[in-house]
Amino acid sequence: MKQINHIPPLQKAVSDAREKGKTIGLVPTMGALHKGHISLINTAEKNGDFIVVSIFVNPTQFNNPDDLARYPRDLVSDLRMLVGHGVEIVFVPAVEEMYPEADTRQFDLSPLDQVMEGKFRPGHFNGVAQIVSRLFEAVQPDRAYFGQKDFQQLAVIRKLVDQLNLDIEIIGCPIIREADGLAMSSRNQLLTPEQRAAAPHIHAVLQKARALKNSRSPRELQAMVKEAINNHPLMQLEYFEIVDDQELKPIVSWDNSANKVGCIAVHLSEIRLIDNIYFH
Ligand code: PAF
Repeated sequence: MKQINHIPPLQKAVSDAREKGKTIGLVPTMGALHKGHISLINTAEKNGDFIVVSIFVNPTQFNNPDDLARYPRDLVSDLRMLVGHGVEIVFVPAVEEMYPEADTRQFDLSPLDQVMEGKFRPGHFNGVAQIVSRLFEAVQPDRAYFGQKDFQQLAVIRKLVDQLNLDIEIIGCPIIREADGLAMSSRNQLLTPEQRAAAPHIHAVLQKARALKNSRSPRELQAMVKEAINNHPLMQLEYFEIVDDQELKPIVSWDNSANKVGCIAVHLSEIRLIDNIYFH
């Protein structure tokens, strides 16, 4: 495993691998790696890819400067975690490498960026599109791997690839959970012990909502989830929406034939966690 900090040597290593007949798999991350990231890498390994993992805390996707400042960073532990998983290159660029000049591009991600995360984190998905398009340009992967925990991000990235007409297969990988049900996330390490103990409540409420699907309307489930989260002394609901998994339009009736997914964002004090569940 080789650490590379600049784009030209990255491109050289990737083109050498391609000449040897390898397919290139990119796993973009912001570091603070956990088993969820490792599962993306394992999927790339199963596909036989030459694996490039990028670690870059992308400033343009943070609409809140405090959130950017407190985002966990620990490169030494990240590098240690990557050993033994078939990763060939860890790309760790500085901000100036990815943004030698300010990126003023505005992507048309509508309507996917108008709801849920997009509504509560204005500009977030444009920033994601900026960095992901730059990473795609630098690495030119055959496949790129993203977690389904960031469900809306995955939909946005598929749209981006479509719009830019890129020949990159986007692979969404299942949510990896702690034993108590909490979806793995880099932000979990920011939780206090008390908040961490409370956090599995989010998944438990989603599971309860799914179990009640046959007896409640989507709107009734929305009200149930709101009450169950807001009644918890440490939690405040930002949103819970049941949407179709392609266009992310609200589901008002179970008769709708689309695949339906319930997406949630919850504040535990200043830490914000997201999760989702399919309503099959
Ligand atoms: O999901 C993430 O960690 C980030 O949004 C991504 C895709 C690496 C872009 O910065």
